[in-house]
Amino acid sequence: MGRLSLRRFRRGWQKVRPLPTPRYVSGTPRIGADEDPNLLLIPSTDTLAAAATSEQAVSFVIDLIGQLTPSQEVVDQQAYYHFARAQFGSHFREADLTTVLWAAATLIRPTSYLEIGVRRGRSAAVVAAMCPDCAIFGFDLWMPDYAGAPNPGPEFVQKELSAVGHRGSLELMSGDSRKLVPSFLQQRPSLFFDLITVDGDHSVFGAASDLANVLPRLKVGGIIVFDDIETPGLRRAWDHLVQRDKRYVTWESAATGQGIAAAIRIGDKPLLGRAERTQL
Ligand SMILES: C[S@@+](CC[C@H](N)C(=O)[O-])C[C@H]1O[C@@H](n2cnc3c(N)ncnc32)[C@H](O)[C@@H]1O
Repeated sequence: MGRLSLRRFRRGWQKVRPLPTPRYVSGTPRIGADEDPNLLLIPSTDTLAAAATSEQAVSFVIDLIGQLTPSQEVVDQQAYYHFARAQFGSHFREADLTTVLWAAATLIRPTSYLEIGVRRGRSAAVVAAMCPDCAIFGFDLWMPDYAGAPNPGPEFVQKELSAVGHRGSLELMSGDSRKLVPSFLQQRPSLFFDLITVDGDHSVFGAASDLANVLPRLKVGGIIVFDDIETPGLRRAWDHLVQRDKRYVTWESAATGQGIAAAIRIGDKPLLGRAERTQL
């Protein structure tokens, strides 16, 4: 097979290759299980969206990323927010990974957070600063010079998170998430998360494997955030594993960049009827 046809074959295969499916087990804990469950409200996707696109979210993120070690990405992100605010004033509304994490952290106050794709710790820093006692579990290959910028590794990330006030436990694991995450979770069968971000491998199969591995460990009432949904193939992974699954209500925004999606887990098992959903 010539090189061109091999490439075409690979591209076609990515569109039809069967994707992994999550292995759910019943009895998933609910967020805030230590508190009175009758007082616990699961936020709606409208509430999440309102918080993620609020002026407060942007102000928080501008200030927070200013506390991180300077990088071109941070400079560009701050400049973009300032420009958009100058242009649109208080009408400016936009969500990205950092503002969605601010919203999720504000609404559900996570005590456990799992992140695939940590890089320099920018997104993890939002959760760390909002919920300093939250236990954080991060997975990354720390690919050198990812997206043209230095990607120094776990020690660097640990310092960044301390600098924004994190004092909870922190476990940063280095390797390919497709193998590392399942073996880590197998060793911790009782570990569940309030909040999860999947922002690592951007291939269809890699992202789908990450989603399939972590979804069964998201608590009921917990939130999963998936970055770059408009990247070719990632929508297929999201739709297949989350959007169609009635355990979740989903929200997404593609206002800028590669888009962002989030889902709130509303049931241990898929909730099929309206009545079941209104009982929440
Ligand atoms: C888009 S960056 C993460 C950005 C980070 N969430 C933030 O907001 O600053 C993606 C990261 O995923 C990592 N990565 C890519 N493929 C991976 C894989 N198969 N396993 C683990 N990490 C991976 C890269 O090393 C990179 O650091």
